[in-house]
Amino acid sequence: VATETTVSITVVGASGDLAKKKIFPALFALYYEGCLPKHFTIFGFARSKMTDESLREIISGTLTCRIDQKENCGDKQEEFLKRCFYHPGQYKSEDSFGELSKKLHEHEGNRVANRLFYLSIPPDVFVDAARCSSLAASSGNGWTRVIVEKPFGRDSESSAELTRGLKSYLKEDQIYRIDHYLGKELVENLSVLRFSNLVFEPLWSRQYIRNVQLIFSEDFGTEGRGGYFDNYGIIRDIMQNHLLQILALFAMEPPVSLDAEDIRNEKVKVLRSMRVLDADNVVVGQYKGHTRGGVKYPAYIDDKTVPKNSITPTFAAAALFIDNARWDGVPFLMKAGKALHKKKAEIRVQFRHVPGNLYKRSFGTDLDQATNELVIRVQPDEAIYLKINNKVPGLGMRLDRSNLNLHYADRYDREIPDAYERLLLDAIEGERRLFIRSDELDAAWALFTPLLKELEKRKISPELYPYGSRGPIGAHYLAAKYNVRWGDNNSDTSDSA
Ligand code: BG6
Repeated sequence: VATETTVSITVVGASGDLAKKKIFPALFALYYEGCLPKHFTIFGFARSKMTDESLREIISGTLTCRIDQKENCGDKQEEFLKRCFYHPGQYKSEDSFGELSKKLHEHEGNRVANRLFYLSIPPDVFVDAARCSSLAASSGNGWTRVIVEKPFGRDSESSAELTRGLKSYLKEDQIYRIDHYLGKELVENLSVLRFSNLVFEPLWSRQYIRNVQLIFSEDFGTEGRGGYFDNYGIIRDIMQNHLLQILALFAMEPPVSLDAEDIRNEKVKVLRSMRVLDADNVVVGQYKGHTRGGVKYPAYIDDKTVPKNSITPTFAAAALFIDNARWDGVPFLMKAGKALHKKKAEIRVQFRHVPGNLYKRSFGTDLDQATNELVIRVQPDEAIYLKINNKVPGLGMRLDRSNLNLHYADRYDREIPDAYERLLLDAIEGERRLFIRSDELDAAWALFTPLLKELEKRKISPELYPYGSRGPIGAHYLAAKYNVRWGDNNSDTSDSA
């Protein structure tokens, strides 16, 4: 009876962008850190004919060492590359996967062979590749797991169909649905912040929180990805998954334990308590070209893979509500956009006014300026800071705004691992906490599907905003409707932590 185990990791779609940019580098970083099991093999699987050597060349071009991983970096890369192999085949062919399975077996020997398939391929072949992995390349004596990544359909119906397809060949606990935002350090830290500090959780409700803002912006357009993007748009690309996942973790009730099922149960509950979105609570935008300082910035529709008359939103702002006892009436505002003035992702929590504030006169008429705000900057330059009012030192009584600031780069002398490292490690270890369960996915789609259909049916034109700007003005009106100001538009310098 085999006692030693081995894991075979097959990257299906090995020559694609995601594999090159994220998956192989993350696997190498795990190897460097000694996080991969003693016995492991990595296989690239794709349609093009290629040798092991040429795959190794492709991979080696993508590998870098973090600042804290410089020692023996070259040697480690060599060792890692020797464990990488390639098998050409068709995504829909059980024969191809059968041949792959034989090769995997040669490397696995007599050990307990665990197999992980990462489907880094277009969504129209997800189910076929899952079928072939399951029927022709499953492990005989260990576990078989399959990682899939969005798009998980375009709406409730297509997502449910995909789930049905995957579940015809795999059990739910074999399916690892990635939302890579859940692997980000500060998103993972959200629960630690809430549940292991006395000072936050008691404030975490409608009683003290006025509104919550979830903001994602990129300072580049769809450059080269227009073909994919035009069929999805920013709501499906960012809001329905990345921002909604953060919201769920932020707003869920305390789970019974840190067990994956307990956490996901709470996430589903909060998603199911949310009000379905309607078009009145959403603003959509699309970036337009312009010239600034002699530099020409393209419009979204200048992308060659995008139809000239496209009305796909590259920006959206939305107001969401959770109709439960904790959050009744608190607006959760989301904003996501491409080709804006900054790249960042953050959570902003704006607290209520201090009742009967003794220092109210120090703030003039604008009491909003005096409320506390907690900012969790997910990226870049990770930080958690709390804006407080403070007395300016001296004999007079003047107040100013200051930050209690946990700035990661100053506090921790290490680089933050990429989200894919955490997620791949969890998938290998069978830890499902950070992966999306199918009922969570259904609940997420249920919130957005009617809106998405309405936008398409009514052909709602997006408000145009210049590439590199702060986005359409409509986002401000939407926030104003709920008496909210976007925190990231504050000229307040205390925001640069
Ligand atoms: C992906 C989206 O899920 O996330 C992309 O499809 C987006 O459009 C990307 O650029 C952002 O991820 P990150 O980790 O670079 O913030």
